[in-house]
Amino acid sequence: MLLPNQSVNSNGHLVVGGCDTVALAREYDTPLYVLDEQMVRHNCQQYRQAFAQRLPRSEIAYASKALMTKALCRIMQQEQMALDVASEGELYTALQAGFPAARIKLHGNYKKPALLQMAIENGVGRIVADSLPELALISEVAGELGKQGHILIRITPGIKADTHERIRAGQEDSKFGLGLAGGAAMTATRLALELPNIELHGFHCHIGSQLLHTNGFVRTAAVVMDFISQAGAETGYVAEQFDIGGGLGIRYQEDDVPPTIDHLAEEVCTALKAAADQHNVPLPELILEPGRSIVGEAGVTLYTIGVVKEIPGVRTYVSVDGGLSDNPRPLLYDAEYEAMIANRANQPPDRIVRVAGAHCETDTLFPESNLADPQPGDILAVQSTGAYTYAMASNYNRFTKPAMVLVNDGNAELIVTREGLEDLVRHDVIPQRLI
Ligand code: LLP
Repeated sequence: MLLPNQSVNSNGHLVVGGCDTVALAREYDTPLYVLDEQMVRHNCQQYRQAFAQRLPRSEIAYASKALMTKALCRIMQQEQMALDVASEGELYTALQAGFPAARIKLHGNYKKPALLQMAIENGVGRIVADSLPELALISEVAGELGKQGHILIRITPGIKADTHERIRAGQEDSKFGLGLAGGAAMTATRLALELPNIELHGFHCHIGSQLLHTNGFVRTAAVVMDFISQAGAETGYVAEQFDIGGGLGIRYQEDDVPPTIDHLAEEVCTALKAAADQHNVPLPELILEPGRSIVGEAGVTLYTIGVVKEIPGVRTYVSVDGGLSDNPRPLLYDAEYEAMIANRANQPPDRIVRVAGAHCETDTLFPESNLADPQPGDILAVQSTGAYTYAMASNYNRFTKPAMVLVNDGNAELIVTREGLEDLVRHDVIPQRLI
């Protein structure tokens, strides 16, 4: 599978963002994350245009949990995106990159007082309140700082998204948000309106990730607009913003057909307008928080194949120099990817092999990968790895985290340097008595 930003050059090498991936592997070593800048920018532009065209009052906030680096924050700022952060580390990174705090939204089901303080002190645009105790805490922290907490209330709509169960978030039985059915969302709305130092701007909802149909979004729009109308009737509150979260799926494999951004925009905007008309409530500003669909397909991971082991009558194992520590998704979510031999990208795949990582456990990366005669020394390129790979990388087995290069028009620049062995022991302490 070749994505639109990819080609094969006269040497038969896979080219991404105008760069020969085999040359990248040689220069920067492997495993290596490669991110195509133009594709990231194009996706941002697609989102902004598709929604603005249908709803002039709309905002797209990149969900930085998918991939967060300071360089990416600069790109998001240049593309006039807002930013969703979900931890102290993500917020710190954004602020370090100079991202305007007013365009940041802070998420999380458990935000410690220090995080709320950091957010309010720095003027974070929206805090997405996830529980009743958190509302009280925001009010208290904002009061201590002599500031206002600008919030959205996260609603759990009771919608079971059609995706892997570990990335569902909208069903009633969820740690996230305030439920509709039991009245928690309405209680939170009243509380937010009563509490001092809090300004309620509207509601938030996120039902899940890697959604390959628009129907979940459409149902969410209807359910939340219904609540907005009900809350208006009961409290007189008019919601100014509705954040429908992220979740649009991407193409991991040839036969995945995610909705286009334009199709998503058409469906969501139509549903929103219809619900506003039906309930006779003003149309709120629409916010989206896509992560995966901005960076996912823009990423390729390069590995070096080390060992090819054939077990006659069983299968062939192909071991690469990474795995679980740079991409835990196959083991966590049964995620499947397409891979190819980057140095022989013209050669048709001719055998099914099992690609394994190099960790000291069975870290199968791809149980059945169709490859062209894989040999030790070949470069394996794995498609659609821009989202939730580096973001979820670990130092398991004391593997160092790979570098990341940004490719654009034939140029490659490091945006994350490769960890060194010294980084692994940086935080280790030997107590005096053990010396
Ligand atoms: N907004 C909120 C509140 C979220 O929780 C998420 C994802 C997003 C937006 C962005 O969703 P996206 O557009 O990227 O689907 N580690 C998992 C994905 C976890 C998603 C968590 N929340 C994976 O590798 O599939």
